[in-house]
Amino acid sequence: MLSIPDLIKKKRDGNALSDEDIQFFLQAVVKKTIQEAQTGAMLMAIFMKGMVATETMALTKAMKLSGEVLSWPEEWAELVVDKHSTGGVGDKVSLVLAPALAACGLKVPMISGRGLSHTGGTLDKLESIPGFNVGQPLPKLRSILAEVGCVIVGQTVSLVPADRILYALRDATSTVESLPLITGSIISKKAAESLNSLVLDVKFGGSAICKDLASAKALGESLVTAGNNLGMNTRAVFTHMSNPIGRCIGNSVEVIESLETLKGKGPSDLMELVSTLGGVLLVMTGKVSSLSEGVRLITESDGGADFWPKFPGP
Ligand code: URA
Repeated sequence: MLSIPDLIKKKRDGNALSDEDIQFFLQAVVKKTIQEAQTGAMLMAIFMKGMVATETMALTKAMKLSGEVLSWPEEWAELVVDKHSTGGVGDKVSLVLAPALAACGLKVPMISGRGLSHTGGTLDKLESIPGFNVGQPLPKLRSILAEVGCVIVGQTVSLVPADRILYALRDATSTVESLPLITGSIISKKAAESLNSLVLDVKFGGSAICKDLASAKALGESLVTAGNNLGMNTRAVFTHMSNPIGRCIGNSVEVIESLETLKGKGPSDLMELVSTLGGVLLVMTGKVSSLSEGVRLITESDGGADFWPKFPGP
């Protein structure tokens, strides 16, 4: 077994790391037996030299297994789904899509994030509802999912701890924009949710992380390959984004716009995005046989819109 400095050198010199190398490195990261400077150096080596597909796979798998992996009742085996979006200004798709999918009989354990730079995060938006608690323990998450069909929460401490450590160091070392590191980060968290199906909303254009379709396709392909390899049925949808989504920008007004959308009175771009992503998931889970049928089901579902304003209750 190579030492950590040897592993850094191996990657720095452009060689592929083995599965064992990657597992050894990540165990050292999670157990904190490695210096932060060494982790930062490895991240920079990966950023500069890239990873071949087998390395990205090994990284993603080892990250997933660095913490708890959720499990669901057997009868949900085909039903557990989620989506990931590369995000953008005014992107409130999760707030509409999760309840719409639940209304169509799917189970949606959405583990969401907070805002990054100028884009708002789903958790920040939900917290504009007084009393809303995005920090549910796992047993509660399971019971909400059983009763309601969807739940949107923040990441728990036990889920993919490797990502929490690596993400903070990527931020501090300017190594965020790396295809294998982005793939490992996103797909490991989704795989730890033990999903049956995952749809990825990969955006491109002036307001998106990927400025053109070619870079969005490269990201989409990397994510889809890693997702499928980890046993999730994974597909990507590419959406052009040169403007904010919908008409409202700002946490509380985005919640209001989401409710209006669930009642069928939302802006057309948001309605189209939600119904397409939802339609794809309904096809992937075998709930419908065509995308047009899936789009119709999502469009007609109200996701319990009338119940929402009463939440969180007295
Ligand atoms: N979102 C994530 O969770 N990780 C990344 O690396 C980028 C976006």
